Amino acid sequence: MTNDEAFVVTIDGPSGSGKGSLALQVARELDFHLLDSGAIYRLLALKSIRQNADLDQENEVIAVLDDFDIDFEPGDELPVPFLDGQDVSAELRQETMGEAASRVARHAGVRRCLLDLQRSFFQPPGLVADGRDMGTVVFPEARFKFFLNASIEIRAQRRYKQLINMGLSASIPQLQADIAERDERDQSRSTSPLRPAEDALVVDSSLLDLTQVTELVLSHIRENR
Ligand code: DC
Repeated sequence: MTNDEAFVVTIDGPSGSGKGSLALQVARELDFHLLDSGAIYRLLALKSIRQNADLDQENEVIAVLDDFDIDFEPGDELPVPFLDGQDVSAELRQETMGEAASRVARHAGVRRCLLDLQRSFFQPPGLVADGRDMGTVVFPEARFKFFLNASIEIRAQRRYKQLINMGLSASIPQLQADIAERDERDQSRSTSPLRPAEDALVVDSSLLDLTQVTELVLSHIRENR
């Protein structure tokens, strides 16, 4: 393994842990590609809703994948997600779409169908992948694995700020309840439940800001690559 060989960095964690912002910063610093796997599940949820598929029926969601036309184009900050040629960033960010994504993501067959698509994001010079099962299932051979966590109160506050900054309405108690429900569903599903990979470095970001967490992760990569 040479230092300039392409490699994968995985960042997993629950909703609102800050993994999306961290992944973006780390990918920028390393000049790597970025995979926001949650956006793929959100895109699938949106397409399923548009086609009136029952999100809780695995075969109906898998049928939606027959004609799943998605793309990510470079944006000012995060890549911009497209579904059937249309920019759907605003719809994807809604809490209801996170909830719908968590439902379609429970099906083992759906997760299997999405493996190759997610792995195709690994191109030179390397990839930073964020999600729930990046280090455990999608990229088990990743060179660096991180699991980002934070208390539920902090995660609800962060999500609140994000939604308000985007001009959307939100309530902290409601967000806390939604996050707890999503955690429970993501952690208890039988396929690829949310959990740290055995070889992941677990980072609690409750008391750290984005700059501090990014510095911690980058130092670990620089010292060990
Ligand atoms: O990271 P996010 O909030 O955008 O993800 C939305 C939902 O998608 C999340 O609640 C569970 C599901 N998901 C998943 O099951 N596996 C992933 N790798 C990423 C997301």
